[in-house]
Amino acid sequence: MDAFECISKRRSVRSFLKKPVPKELVDKVLEAALMAPSAGDIHPYRIVVVTDEGKIRRIAEAALNQTFISQAPIVIVYLVSLEEASAYGKRGVELYSILDVGASMENLMLAATSLGLSTCWVGAFDERRVEEILNAPKGYRAVSLTPLGYSDSAARGRPPPARSMKILYEGFQ
Ligand SMILES: Cc1cc2nc3c(=O)[nH]c(=O)nc-3n(C[C@H](O)[C@H](O)[C@H](O)COP(=O)(O)O)c2cc1C
Repeated sequence: MDAFECISKRRSVRSFLKKPVPKELVDKVLEAALMAPSAGDIHPYRIVVVTDEGKIRRIAEAALNQTFISQAPIVIVYLVSLEEASAYGKRGVELYSILDVGASMENLMLAATSLGLSTCWVGAFDERRVEEILNAPKGYRAVSLTPLGYSDSAARGRPPPARSMKILYEGFQ
C-alpha cells in the first residue's frame, strides 16, 4: 500500500473483533511509532501496550465509558515523561511533548492501517485514572490512547470527507 492510499484508508474505527493480533504485527506498528520525528529526537514518552482484559475494561470506563475500546484485544497508551519533556523547558512540556505523541500516534495508526488493523485515537479520558490503572510512576502523564485490533466495521477504508476549505494559501486574506 503506498503512503497516499494508506493515509486515505485510515479511519477511526469503533468496532473490534475478538481476533488476536499476531505479535509480529504489533512489533511492526510499534517500530513505526518510534520512527516518528520528535523535538531533539528525545521521544519523551513511553508507549504502554495493554493486553490484560481487566485493565482494558477499566481504561474504557475511564474514557467516559467508550465501550468500543474494551472490544479490542490491545490498547496502546502514550505516557509523557514530564522530566524528559522539560529538556526544552515549558515549551517542551506544554507543546513539543504533545506534538511528539501526535506524530508517533499518526505513524502508529498509519502502520496499523497498512497491516489491515484498525485504530481510533482516543483523547477523552480521565488522565489520573488511566495513570493509576497502568501504575504510571509519578511524573508521567497519560496523553493519548488507541485500541488496536481487527475490525469488520463498515467505517474501515471509507474515504474521508473533503476538507480543502481548511487550507489557506498565504494565510488569512
Ligand atoms: C486529539 C484527538 C482526540 C480524539 N478523541 C476521540 C475520542 O475520545 N473518542 C473517539 O471516538 N474519537 C476520538 N477522536 C477521533 C476523531 O473523532 C476522528 O479522528 C474524527 O472524527 C475524524 O474521523 P477519522 O479519524 O475517521 O478521519 C480523537 C481524535 C483526535 C485527533
